[in-house]
Amino acid sequence: MYETIDGNAVAKSIHAELGAELANLKFSRPPCVAFIRVGEDPASVSYVKKKGRVAEEIGITSRLHVLNESVSQDELNALIDNLNADENVDAILIQAPLPKHLSERDTFNRVRPDKDVDGFSSGSLGMLCQEDSRAFVACTPAGILELLKRSGVATSGKRAVVLGRSIIVGKPMALLLMKKGVDASVTVCHSRSEGLKEICAQADILIAAVGRPNTVTADMVKDGACVIDVGINRVESSETKTGYRLVGDVDFANVAPKCSKITPVPGGVGPMTVAMLMKNTVAAYKRHMGV
Ligand code: GUN
Repeated sequence: MYETIDGNAVAKSIHAELGAELANLKFSRPPCVAFIRVGEDPASVSYVKKKGRVAEEIGITSRLHVLNESVSQDELNALIDNLNADENVDAILIQAPLPKHLSERDTFNRVRPDKDVDGFSSGSLGMLCQEDSRAFVACTPAGILELLKRSGVATSGKRAVVLGRSIIVGKPMALLLMKKGVDASVTVCHSRSEGLKEICAQADILIAAVGRPNTVTADMVKDGACVIDVGINRVESSETKTGYRLVGDVDFANVAPKCSKITPVPGGVGPMTVAMLMKNTVAAYKRHMGV
């Protein structure tokens, strides 16, 4: 029988740990995270709202800057520069994806390194590559590693396959899994990979971050594997009020019976991304307060 990894429960205990830590810190001001959202993409609206709600629960203040879809790179840069210079802002998060006319690379690189709680800048990714423990690690991969650890999934010497090569998940995930102390043997696959099924079927840990429903089917999964589903895909549904429901990248019903452990969607990786953002924000705050 497989075990469903409960990301909500793990995230909740991390929130409680952070809340307790903050309650014990007696600084002149609480932590502050600034969110930048460009446009009204419904998924981004909902993610940023969730991040703000959780921050408040823990005792982190937040600011939300909503920019028009047509904002120029210069205007966006000016806002980032303002937040970089603001002594009362510890952390900056620019919700991705950005509209096509903006450069995500230039935008992420503009964030001051000590406020880069998303870990998407070249400096943060470079430090992660160097295994520098001061690096802010991208929240979704950091959350997945935390889930693996807290669920007792062995990584040392194991074969991990990462599906997807994005800056947000795939690349930092691969770096985290191969780093000393985690010690997995990592393969990264993507849309051009040949022999995908055979490669995936060798994985002890299979991480799907593709953004397409039913990408991972039962024939791609080894018996006893741990499957981590990063996908959050909206599919039409007549059974919900919203008219859609969320599904992952994994064909859960057919894959789960083959697994030792598997994450559900929703309630798996998603809440962990938020928990890690809170953890990074508290870390940034403590550094700014001289701890
Ligand atoms: N879009 C999807 N995941 C993320 C994330 O972790 N951070 C930001 N900023 N945008 C995202």
